Amino acid sequence: MSDRIHTLSGYLYEYQKSVTQPEEFWARIADSFHWRKRWSKVLKWNFEEPDVKWFVDAKLNITENIFERHLFTIGDRPAIIWEANDPNEAGRTLTYKELFHEVNRFANALKSKGIGKGDKVIIYMPMVPEAAIAMLACARIGAIHSVVFAGFSSSALADRVNDCGAKAILTADGNFRGSKKIAVKAVVDEALEKSEVETVIVYERTQQEVSMKEGRDFWWHEVIAEESQECAPEEMDSEDMLFILYTSGSTGKPKGVVHTTGGYMVYSQYSFDNVFQYSEGDVYWCTADVGWITGHSYIVYGPLLAGATTLMFEGVPTFPDAGRFWQVVEKHQVNVFYTAPTAIRALQAYGTEPIQKYDLSSLKVLGSVGEPINEEAWHWYHTHIGRGKCPIVDTWWQTETGGIMVSPIAGITPTKPAFATLPLPGVQLCIVDPEGNELTGNSVEGNLCIKFPWPGMIRTTYGDHERCKQTYFSTYKGMYFTGDGVKRDHDGYYRILGRVDDVINVSGHRMGTAEVENAINEHPKVIESAVVGYPHEVKGQGIYAYVIADLTNRTEDNLMNEIKEMISKIIGPIAKPDKIQFVPGLPKTRSGKIMRRILRKVAEGSLDNMGDTSTLLDPDVVTKIIEGKK
Ligand code: WTA
Repeated sequence: MSDRIHTLSGYLYEYQKSVTQPEEFWARIADSFHWRKRWSKVLKWNFEEPDVKWFVDAKLNITENIFERHLFTIGDRPAIIWEANDPNEAGRTLTYKELFHEVNRFANALKSKGIGKGDKVIIYMPMVPEAAIAMLACARIGAIHSVVFAGFSSSALADRVNDCGAKAILTADGNFRGSKKIAVKAVVDEALEKSEVETVIVYERTQQEVSMKEGRDFWWHEVIAEESQECAPEEMDSEDMLFILYTSGSTGKPKGVVHTTGGYMVYSQYSFDNVFQYSEGDVYWCTADVGWITGHSYIVYGPLLAGATTLMFEGVPTFPDAGRFWQVVEKHQVNVFYTAPTAIRALQAYGTEPIQKYDLSSLKVLGSVGEPINEEAWHWYHTHIGRGKCPIVDTWWQTETGGIMVSPIAGITPTKPAFATLPLPGVQLCIVDPEGNELTGNSVEGNLCIKFPWPGMIRTTYGDHERCKQTYFSTYKGMYFTGDGVKRDHDGYYRILGRVDDVINVSGHRMGTAEVENAINEHPKVIESAVVGYPHEVKGQGIYAYVIADLTNRTEDNLMNEIKEMISKIIGPIAKPDKIQFVPGLPKTRSGKIMRRILRKVAEGSLDNMGDTSTLLDPDVVTKIIEGKK
C-alpha cells in the first residue's frame, strides 16, 4: 500500500504534509478508493456552525470499496473468522466472496421489506457475523444503521428507536454470554411497547422460545431464503449519513453521533492500515463489541476496507476460564490483538498460569483502547502477552472522532508506557487552559482540543444540531473539544489523563452521570441523587452514587438492590453503581449546584482537605457524608 508509513521519518514527513497541505494529503489517500464520481473539493469547513464536508459532491458506496474494489484479488481470503462463545462449538469462516453474497442477500431482503436509502435501521444483536452482515447490508442499500449494544435495556433501546425514528430492528432470539443464555428478542418486544417499527428480523442463534408478531416479525433465514446473492450498490453522496451511534454525554439522554460515508471510509481504513501495520495474511482480532464505535471502525469497516481478516468473538474473556483469549490467539494464530485495559487488568488478576498453557508466538502487535492504560497493566501486557517483543499501540479516540487519533504507529513510533504518544497524520491537536488559551511547547497539561477537521469526524448529533455545536464546538471557540484532559511531556508525547467533564468511563464504557442519576431518581423512595466516578482497580472507574432516600419500610440493603434493579431496567446492567451511599443531604452551593469535586474526593477516599467549602449552603453536610462512608 502506497499510503503506508514505514519509518519514523516517513511518519514525520507525512504528518508535516497533512498539516501544511491537508487537502492534497487527503486527496492522495482517497485516491486509492473507488469513487463513482470524484469530489469537486476535498474539504469545506467551519467549526462555528459546525459545518464540515469532506470529498464534496463525490459519489460512492462504502461496500463497493470493501467488495468490488478488491474482489478479484482477495475473494477467497477469509474476511471474518467467527469464534463462538462455547469453545466446543464449531466456528465459522466467511471469505470475502461469501461475505459479499451474504450481504447482498440480506440487502435484498431488507429491500423486499420496503427498507431503502435514508431509512433508519436499529441493529440489536449478539456478536455473530450476521451483525456485521446487517451493518454492511444497510450500507449497501443506503439505509442508515444504528447499532445498539445488546446489553442495553428495553427502555434504552426504545429511546434510541424513537430518537432516530427507526423503520426496522434487526435482532436475534438470544445471546450466549459465558455460561448464560440471554433473551434478546424479548427485550425488543418490551421496547416495542414504548416504540414502534414496521419490521423486525430475527436471527436464530440460541433457539430459545420467542414470540413473533404476525406481519411485523420475520426470521432471518426465511427472509433471505429466496433472495439473490447479487445486489447493486446504492450510489451515496460522500456526506450522506452512514450510521448513527448513540453515546453518553455529560447532560441528558445519550446523543446520536452521526458519521457520513466518504470521510469515515477513508479515515477508518487509513488509520487501521497505519496504526496496526497490518500485513497481508495476518489475522487481526479486536475484542470489542460491534455495539461500540471500536466495533464499527476496527472490527467491521476499517479491517474489511483494508482486505484484512477480522476475527469476531462472541464470548467473554473468562469463560470457560481466564485462558480463553489466549486459547483463541493460539487456535487462530492471531497476529494483531486489540483489547481494552479493563480486560487486561481483569485477566492480570488471574496471574500468568492461564497464559502459559498457550503458544502466543503468532502475536506481532498489541493494541489498547477505551480508557487510559495504567503503567502496571501496560507492562503486564507487554511482558506476558507480548513476550517483550510486541509493540503496544495505545490508541486514543472517541465515538465522535470515528477513528484513532493519537497512537503509536506499530513498530515505528517508540512507545512509552501509558502514553498514546503522537497524533496520526491529519490530526491537529491543541492543549488549552481553562480560558481557552493554547498552551504551546512541551511539558504542559490542559484540556485536549482539535483545531482542524479530519475526515472521520462527527458531523452532527442526530435531530439536534445545536446540541452538537454546544457540546463540542462552543467551549473553546473555533475548536473541537474532546472532554479529555491531557499532558504533553518533555518529549512532546501525549498522555491522556481522562475525562474532565461529567462523563465516567467504566470498563471502557461511557456513562453520563446525569443519565445514571435520572435512572436512580425514578425510584419512588429516592428524593435526590448525585453520581461520580472513582478509581477502580479493574474497571478503571467505578460508579459511586450518593442517594437521599426515604428509608421507611426499607433496609438500606433492600433499597440498594431495588435501585440497582431500576438502573438495569432503565439503562442496562453496565450502569449499576459499584457503591451506593445513603446521605442526609448533598453538598450544594447557594445557587443549588452540587459540588461534585467534594463528592469525588469522598468517593476516592481522600477524606481530609476538602478544599474551599465556604460557598456551601450547609457545610455540615460534608461532615455527615464523610461520617457515613463505609
Ligand atoms: C477514553 C472509545 C485514554 C477517553 C474509542 C475518550 C481513552 C473516551 C483512550 C471515548 C486511550 C479512549 N487512552 N483514554 N487510549 N481511548 N479513551 O466514545 O476518555 O467509547 O474521551 O470511544 O474514552 O470513549 P468512546
